[in-house]
Amino acid sequence: MRIAVLASGQGTNLQALLDTVHGREAQIVAVAGDRPGAPAFDRARGAGIPTRAFPLGDFADRAARDAAIADWLVRQGAELVVLAGYMAILTPTFLGRFPDRIVNVHPSLLPAFPGLRAIEQAVDYGVRVFGVTVHLVVDDGGVDTGPVLLQGSLELPDADDPEAVHAALQPLEHELLPEAVRLLARGAVRRDPTRPRRLIIDR
Ligand code: GAR
Repeated sequence: MRIAVLASGQGTNLQALLDTVHGREAQIVAVAGDRPGAPAFDRARGAGIPTRAFPLGDFADRAARDAAIADWLVRQGAELVVLAGYMAILTPTFLGRFPDRIVNVHPSLLPAFPGLRAIEQAVDYGVRVFGVTVHLVVDDGGVDTGPVLLQGSLELPDADDPEAVHAALQPLEHELLPEAVRLLARGAVRRDPTRPRRLIIDR
């Protein structure tokens, strides 16, 4: 399966994909993002993958930016879009181009703590179990509300430092996101016909 990755930051999840599924179950054919200087681009270039930055200032609005990203990803042959720390919210323009073909990794046990600063939200709330969710991104009007693919949790009963929690969660992300790509690449994920927001995984 040909996949594109969208990233805004360090790109450690992109690196996990490069180290595991790339060249095996999936081929990463493009890496795009909103921040031209993102270290994620260096990782992609290091692996010989085409990159392109789409800063918002270059476009009339977010929908125009998203249309340009989608056009480029389609030209690169992408069949699945992986959001690996992409920190801009995608518009319906983009979501409609890849129905049920966008996957996101989010650093909380959804539906708790959607949106930005999820780990800070969870620490401020005082939870004692943290986690990671890999989910589909669909045009349902919400943020981080798409069908859940995989989740993992971690007991950190005394956590009070969001950065330490993030460091503890990252190995879980680096395991779950490639696993989700593997499942999607082998066609092992389908919607439950009776409860359509549930996903059935054929393991
Ligand atoms: C990851 O922890 C991911 O869960 C989070 O950004 C980080 C990116 O790390 N994503 C979100 O918060 C999305 N709402 P990385 O650049 O090292 O892969």
